[in-house]
Amino acid sequence: MTKYLIHGGRPLHGTIHISGAKNAAVAIIPAALLVDGVCRIENVPQISDVTLILQILRELGADVRLVNRTTVEVDCSHIRNRQVPYELARKIRASYYLVGALLSRFGWAEVPLPGGCDLGGRPVDQHIKGFVSMGADVEVRNGLIDARVPNGARLSGGQVYLDIVSVGATMNIMLAATLANGMTIIENAAKEPHIVDLANFLNSMGADIRGAGTDVIKIHGVARLRGGSYSIIPDQIEAGTYMAAVAAAGGDVLIRNVIPKHLECITAKLVEMGAEVEEEGDSLIVRRHGPLQRTNIKTMFYPGFPTDMHPQIAAVLCLARGTSVITEGVWDNRYRYTEEFRRLGARIQVDGKIAIIEGVEKLTGAPMEACDLRAGAAMIIAGLAAQGTSEISNVKHIERGYEDIIGKLSGIGADIRAVEVPDPEQKAAPAAG
Ligand code: EPZ
Repeated sequence: MTKYLIHGGRPLHGTIHISGAKNAAVAIIPAALLVDGVCRIENVPQISDVTLILQILRELGADVRLVNRTTVEVDCSHIRNRQVPYELARKIRASYYLVGALLSRFGWAEVPLPGGCDLGGRPVDQHIKGFVSMGADVEVRNGLIDARVPNGARLSGGQVYLDIVSVGATMNIMLAATLANGMTIIENAAKEPHIVDLANFLNSMGADIRGAGTDVIKIHGVARLRGGSYSIIPDQIEAGTYMAAVAAAGGDVLIRNVIPKHLECITAKLVEMGAEVEEEGDSLIVRRHGPLQRTNIKTMFYPGFPTDMHPQIAAVLCLARGTSVITEGVWDNRYRYTEEFRRLGARIQVDGKIAIIEGVEKLTGAPMEACDLRAGAAMIIAGLAAQGTSEISNVKHIERGYEDIIGKLSGIGADIRAVEVPDPEQKAAPAAG
């Protein structure tokens, strides 16, 4: 079992390079299912969610070739299987994109209900509403989403108003509509940068999608997509996580390969809290030398403050002067990190969807258990800012979404390393037989 060991209390200095966006990659890779020919995808992050989604495509019969560390070529011309294996699909949220992609290309998909971080209820009713509006019959049975177009026909364009702004539903309906007959209109669509990235990927392969990044997206179905080359955008949340790490631990770091526009809301909050953020082309310089100040944050859809930065910013606020309030506007159950933070001496209370954080002078290192991806990243930030040693277990959650987090943080002066330790639960298990 791997744990991360952190000796905290050191400011961070140096340069860090941001990888390709996880939540774009896990949609763009399944989108290759729509393409007749080879898709060359560049700036792919090396994270376990990407490994899983590539493995699923291989199981379906795709030809997947790793060209170099960050480039992959996917050829889905000879897909032989449309049933996604349960063992793989249940490990990752983004497996739901296979429904939209397979349905669009073949008119039929059978995909196990997705897994991913436990953030409370994660329904897929809006995805299904979209597929049904395009003429599919969709049934959820035996843990599967079974979606098919009657009589083996293609989907037809439809009009769908999302009852709730959903990133996943917006992208999934966009995938399904790409090869449908006629025009699909998605109203009340999500506007996250990865939605625009998916639309750009599909358009570069011959799709006709307009309005991505606004709340109305129009997809004019095309007969086929052809192969091509595309580079994924930098990861907004990975960049925000390192910005928060510098704010919490102090120091001075150049963060390279970012789109500053995508980080505006995070920058604005960190500046309010006492950090300095300077833009230099596709880089940001983040500094924090003085004291941290309190603020209030409400997470919401893009361009609002991202829910995927909630736990990381909470780690910073634990050390800010005064009382801060974080209101979670997207997920029901994002507060499981708070119990772990209390072990470090944080003063944090949760009331429904609100966390009240009373800043303390210092945190002291302690063992913590990562309970989901962003909570795990936040525990690293808290450990870096705390005095003494912290130990983080269950790091598989963190490795789902952060490429080489140990190497990147060590490169800016953090004292963090991965250690292999025996799994206490296995030790305690009675001998077989
Ligand atoms: C995506 O999840 C991201 N995951 C999440 O990132 C992120 O937290 C979330 O968007 C919000 O930005 C991926 O892109 C793989 P939603 P998704 O559909 O698509 C409700 C991370 O750490 N809803 O936008 O599953 C839902 O319950 C992760 O990288 C419905 O009610 O999120 C939630 O309250 C974790 N019905 C809200 O909408 C539906 O059919 C937003 O969910 C769909 C969603």
